[in-house]
Amino acid sequence: MEQKSSNITWQQSMVTRQDRNRRNGHGSLALWFTGLSGAGKSTLALTLEKALHDRGIGSYVLDGDNIRHGLNRDLGFSEEDRKENLRRIGEVSKLFADAGLVVLSAFISPDEQDRRMVRELFAPGEFAEVYVKCSLEECEKRDPKGLYKKARSGQIRNFTGIDAKYDVPGSPELVIDTERTPVEEAVRLLLGYLEERNVLA
Ligand code: PPS
Repeated sequence: MEQKSSNITWQQSMVTRQDRNRRNGHGSLALWFTGLSGAGKSTLALTLEKALHDRGIGSYVLDGDNIRHGLNRDLGFSEEDRKENLRRIGEVSKLFADAGLVVLSAFISPDEQDRRMVRELFAPGEFAEVYVKCSLEECEKRDPKGLYKKARSGQIRNFTGIDAKYDVPGSPELVIDTERTPVEEAVRLLLGYLEERNVLA
């Protein structure tokens, strides 16, 4: 995106991310949950957040619905708006990870190129994509907010999976199939992944 402001200078903090990680006693990174509406992104992110909190790990969930109530209330669901939604959240996620947190970002993020744009904001090793896999049929059966029903009847336009696309991730770091994996097992897998990456140390 074009830089509109000029005469701006980056101010370097005297506290590094490594200093923060050392003080906290754990690492930090962004886990990016992508998947269809109703696939289980928020459930996994919120359950993992609680598990991390209970272990004394600083974490925070950024969730599509919530962020669209505030920071991104000016954005809708056109391709352009979704891109801007994800660009802003990518930047916010990077700040949270830099502040020493394990940030759990749960957004449909349907476009592969937009997900790549977010990934590229981070240094290698500071970002991991989690594909929350669930068939459209099952998401539609779950329909926790009644949105698929509305989309099918034309009350909602540009609904992901119905009349807006979802690009299945090509090479996510983790895939959690929520049709086959109970939440507790999924959280164990996610904790195992964070352990492997030395985030919990
Ligand atoms: S995106 O595509 O990443 O910008 O979307 P996100 O910010 O994650 O917001 C998705 C939530 O918004 C609700 N909602 C819709 N989703 C998809 N398409 C359309 N048209 C739409 N309209 C409203 C819905 O509650 C999504 O939440 P989740 O948790 O995914 O069900």
